[in-house]
Amino acid sequence: MKVLVVGSGGREFSIGLALSKDRAVSHLYFAPGNGATSMLGANVAYESYEALLAYVQQNGIDLTIVGPEQPLVEGIVDIFRAANATIFGPTAAAARLEGSKVYMKNFLAKYAIPTAAYIETDSIEKAYKFIDAMKSTPIVVKADGLCGGKGVIIAQSKDEAKRSVGEMLSGVAFGEAGKKVIVEEYLDGYELSMFAICDGKDYILLPAAQDHKRIGDGDTGPNTGGMGAYAPTPLVDETLYTKVKKRVIEPTLIGMQKEGAPFEGVLFIGVMVVAGEPIVLEYNVRFGDPECEILMPLMTTPASELFYKAATKSLDALQVTFSSQYAVGVVMASANYPYGNSQSAQIIVDEVHHEELAHNAHISYAGVSEVDGMLMATGGRVLVCVGLGDTIQQARDRAYLMAGQVHFAGKKMRTDIAYQALRIQ
Ligand code: AMP
Ligand code: GLY
Repeated sequence: MKVLVVGSGGREFSIGLALSKDRAVSHLYFAPGNGATSMLGANVAYESYEALLAYVQQNGIDLTIVGPEQPLVEGIVDIFRAANATIFGPTAAAARLEGSKVYMKNFLAKYAIPTAAYIETDSIEKAYKFIDAMKSTPIVVKADGLCGGKGVIIAQSKDEAKRSVGEMLSGVAFGEAGKKVIVEEYLDGYELSMFAICDGKDYILLPAAQDHKRIGDGDTGPNTGGMGAYAPTPLVDETLYTKVKKRVIEPTLIGMQKEGAPFEGVLFIGVMVVAGEPIVLEYNVRFGDPECEILMPLMTTPASELFYKAATKSLDALQVTFSSQYAVGVVMASANYPYGNSQSAQIIVDEVHHEELAHNAHISYAGVSEVDGMLMATGGRVLVCVGLGDTIQQARDRAYLMAGQVHFAGKKMRTDIAYQALRIQ
């Protein structure tokens, strides 16, 4: 089978890594890929989704898997489907679950799926009135559209919440994406990343993960795209998995069918668990990054089979299996992340001589390019060191041992990934 992965991050590298070990996959392509995906397959530059579709048809590619939200929201799946090309991901209509927070919140309310109390509005007066009536702080203010993970403000006071609303609605903060806002209650609990692979009707729930969004140890400093993750988390038991299935995933799949936009692809549920109850913070319509990097190695079902069956509405015919191990991923970012760009720096990875480490740890590359045979860190989140183990502690130790083998100027990482799990064990 010939498979194309759309995207250029660590998420797409990790999907490619799983596919590269899959015997059913004969050819692997990335569009556009990064400086390291070229070690796994061919990088393909493209100008438009139509041009990419033509490449897929000319090269007899059997399956396209879309990593990031942007092409999904822009309708890549619709374009491929119209030409009968097999593609894994939601249509533009279904991708509105991520593309518009207003659409998502109204959908959750319509189908009685638990979420934080909110209003959606484009009126500053209405937003102020709602804020004035709120009984407690912090207050959460969200821009409607895609803002590269920066569109959520946790305001510590009513004044700050009003300021954020003003900056969004005036277009100063996020342009068009902020012309409508959500104001909602703050939920105090622990956060989970849950992923369901969906084919419109059936789904497979993956082991629950926890991300580490803040840049600094102990969850301090500004939010990032994610500085590390681990799975499965012992914070989730069978009761909670069942609640998420019955109260969130199943009503969502039925609701999207009723809306005429059956959900196919990865449903990423940002869950806040408050007093044992799962409450939906948000939906994304793709894998999380770095969550994908730790979940892919835990799947023992061949990746091509899973994605192909999901893309052809036949998940009911698949028995998915997971490894009994744990995975921990530690993100290594460039010096100025998440504030700004960083100078490009050469990456040196020491050879791993220890066999146990070599078999149980690896690197997923993200912000890298290849220049004259050298691998360069080009800024942002550069790579993820992934460790696998029979316990979270063992997986974490291996991830950090691997991280010790990696060098580039200005490298930066958190030292406490998976602390939530280790605290309770
Ligand atoms: P989002 O971009 O919607 O994922 O939000 C970014 C982060 O803000 C989430 O991962 C949460 O940590 C936090 N957040 C969003 N909404 C709420 C809420 N209602 N209560 C508490 N934290 C929230
Ligand atoms: N790691 C969270 C995200 O990908 O949105």
